[in-house]
Amino acid sequence: MDRFVIEGGKRLTGVVKISGAKNSALPIIAASILTDKRVVIENVPDVMDVHTMIQLLEYIGSIISFKKNVLEIYTPRIKRTIAPYNIVRKMRASYYVLGSLIAREKRARVSLPGGCAIGPRPVDLHIKGIKLLGCDVDIDQGYIVAECKNLKGTEINLQGAKGTSVGATINVMLAATGAQGVTTLNFAACEPEVVDVANFLKKLGVNIQGAGTNKITVRGNWCPVEVRYSIIPDRIEAGTFTVASAITNGDVTIKDCNPEHLTAVIDKLRETGADIQIGDNELIVKGNRPIKPTDIFVAPYPGFPTDMQAQFMALLCLASGTSTIKETIFENRFMQAVELSRMGANITLEGDTAVIKGVKKLSGTYVMASDLRASACLVLAGLAANGKTYVRRIYHLDRGYEKLEKKLRMLGARIKREKE
Ligand code: EPZ
Repeated sequence: MDRFVIEGGKRLTGVVKISGAKNSALPIIAASILTDKRVVIENVPDVMDVHTMIQLLEYIGSIISFKKNVLEIYTPRIKRTIAPYNIVRKMRASYYVLGSLIAREKRARVSLPGGCAIGPRPVDLHIKGIKLLGCDVDIDQGYIVAECKNLKGTEINLQGAKGTSVGATINVMLAATGAQGVTTLNFAACEPEVVDVANFLKKLGVNIQGAGTNKITVRGNWCPVEVRYSIIPDRIEAGTFTVASAITNGDVTIKDCNPEHLTAVIDKLRETGADIQIGDNELIVKGNRPIKPTDIFVAPYPGFPTDMQAQFMALLCLASGTSTIKETIFENRFMQAVELSRMGANITLEGDTAVIKGVKKLSGTYVMASDLRASACLVLAGLAANGKTYVRRIYHLDRGYEKLEKKLRMLGARIKREKE
């Protein structure tokens, strides 16, 4: 297993380029099997999760090439309508092939993803949506088995116990492309990744309206065309670098990002005292001392993203007062708090709220991360800590950040990868 060794205390300066959004790329790759025409996707991040999705599509029958962030997918025929457990267990987003397979083949057998480190991850809304479109759905030996003669457009309410669902919105949108007539999704998620998938579907030839609002309509019966599409920038990677600059009192220009997707993150970072200039496709983030405390309330887009709270927790550990983070989306997403405490942080957890009392310094040690964003948090803490921080199990980071250590090194960080 690989780990990062970080020598903290180095101020980050310079320019970093942001990769394509992992959470757009995964469903767009899955959407590519809707068509038997060739699909070219640009700006695809070279991360493990993308490779897992490629492995799944190859199993299903796609012919794929992936070079220099350009992915070519050609699926003249679906050979298997199955997403097996040994792939889905590696990456939940594999379940996006459910919607595509139902739309194209009218059947699918997709392993249930189960929970994960950040808490229970139910798929009831995905199942509800495809049932309402006319599928018979059964759970058999850990698999969702869906089958139908025809899909029929209808009205679907996707409001869940925790609000909107990115995954269910996308999966049902994909399935609805194969339905006769119009499907209306109410309480749809508004995340930029949902809009990106909808824009890709439009290019494919699908008539789809309203993405980015809570009401999306999809008209089935479309005529596929060959497509070349470019993925949006990864707003969470960009957000992670904004914090990297702020926590090291740095001066970093973050290029090839979309600041409009980062409004809530920029607002909060400014509250902590960072100086942020917004350009067309770039952000310039300058750290300031002291870091001011703030209160964060996680919410679906355009609220403050759950995928950024761990990174902010690292920053707020060094604030000059007490901050809070209320996580409303995932039940178990404060796993990083215990590891940060081992670095000298003062954090108490009260249900869905973390109370972070700022300390003067963090000090490096061995830390172990449990998921992608918690790992990013520990790397950020390591950049600011005294001494050496060893971040173990960085395969979590490799799932979603492209060349993270290389990008950080270009900004002056002392970080290296080594075998345990
Ligand atoms: C996506 O997960 C992202 N993953 C997550 O990013 C992100 O944290 C999350 O959206 C929220 O923004 C991908 O895009 C691949 P949800 P997803 O369905 O789609 C509940 C990262 O680090 N829910 O929007 O699985 C659910 O339990 C990752 O990159 C139901 O109740 O999230 C949660 O409380 C981690 N029933 C809430 O909805 C359902 O059927 C939002 O989840 C589905 C979800």
